[in-house]
Amino acid sequence: MIYLDNAATSYPKPEAVYRAIEDFARASGGNPGRAGHRLAVEAEAMIDDTRRLAARLFGAPRPERIAFCLNATDALNMAIKGVVRPGDHVITSVLEHNSINRPLNRLERDGVITLTRLPATGDHLIDPDSLARAWTARTRLVAVTHASNVTGTIQPVGAYGRIVRERDGLLLVDAGQSAGVAAIDVGADLIDLLAFTGHKGLLGPTGTGGLVVGERVEVAPWREGGTGGDSADPLQPAELPWRLEGGTPNVFGIAGLREGLRILLERGVESVLAHERALLATLLGALRRPELFSFYGADKVILERGGGRVGLLSFTMAGYAPDELATLLDQRFEIAVRPGLDCAPYAHRHLGTFPAGATRLSVGLLSTEDDVLGAAAALNELTSG
Ligand SMILES: Cc1ncc(COP(=O)(O)O)c(C=O)c1O
Repeated sequence: MIYLDNAATSYPKPEAVYRAIEDFARASGGNPGRAGHRLAVEAEAMIDDTRRLAARLFGAPRPERIAFCLNATDALNMAIKGVVRPGDHVITSVLEHNSINRPLNRLERDGVITLTRLPATGDHLIDPDSLARAWTARTRLVAVTHASNVTGTIQPVGAYGRIVRERDGLLLVDAGQSAGVAAIDVGADLIDLLAFTGHKGLLGPTGTGGLVVGERVEVAPWREGGTGGDSADPLQPAELPWRLEGGTPNVFGIAGLREGLRILLERGVESVLAHERALLATLLGALRRPELFSFYGADKVILERGGGRVGLLSFTMAGYAPDELATLLDQRFEIAVRPGLDCAPYAHRHLGTFPAGATRLSVGLLSTEDDVLGAAAALNELTSG
């Protein structure tokens, strides 16, 4: 099987990640913070170490302001529902994943907030000027993706950060596709809330993710419960991370995430991005009949300018519906890709590919030149007839 669905989840994981999960599960399987015995203390120390590594990767000054949770969806829900108040105006964009769209759409439908969805440019960017123009006296939150999971475009979040900070609002960035692949600095980019998932670019297992909470923000807890300490308090502790971490965390998963973070910090995300882009350029260069594909601009950016994209490519191919093509690639060529709307329907409306969507092919740190040449060979065979 050639796995080219890393934007859904990275696979395979580095060997060291598998080993870290198993070793930790066998040797140190206590419940963190729930007792003073050695196994509980070791589990807590491992989680704190993972917080420190994540803080380093994201430029977050205080590791305790990173709350671990299930995935980016969990973190985004925690952020959105933890900060918006009745009557707030929220700005988002057409490039968002449903983990931003759906919570905001429901809040809008229920009359809690008003919502503006910014359009994207022909280059699949959200223009900072359009954000400034959409600002109202009631705007409190801007919720946008760092890298689109459909177009791959890396957004100018630093420019958004400056606009939002000048107006005293809050910037929530979805790093679902960018964490571990594109540089992120919450301080320099003035990001108030950063939601990340552990199982994609961060190379950890599913069931891991987190929210970086900036100094200016207070997030109301939406999952309340045991935190190990302070059990006499009738309410959730006010301090982070416990404020947002009710319940036993995914200890084994976080052990794997720690290893993924170590690998990325050692290697440097710039080199991961360069590797992924080189692979996509190889694939595009190996297509014999590129005129039969629509790549929605990504091919030109990757081949001619090189920058501004994470390692995914959404395309349609003449003569094949996206799901038909994905099924053929799977069953005839054993190549795993993702067809359809990618949980991002407004992005596909922007591209003109709604409702059938497109086929998305995505590489990761462990993808190889053979993988993408295998995919190009399959596509060449399908276009040769
Ligand atoms: C941009 C983006 N945001 C959020 C998510 C949600 O991630 P998770 O399923 O890990 O919650 C995804 C997953 O596809 C994504 O691509």
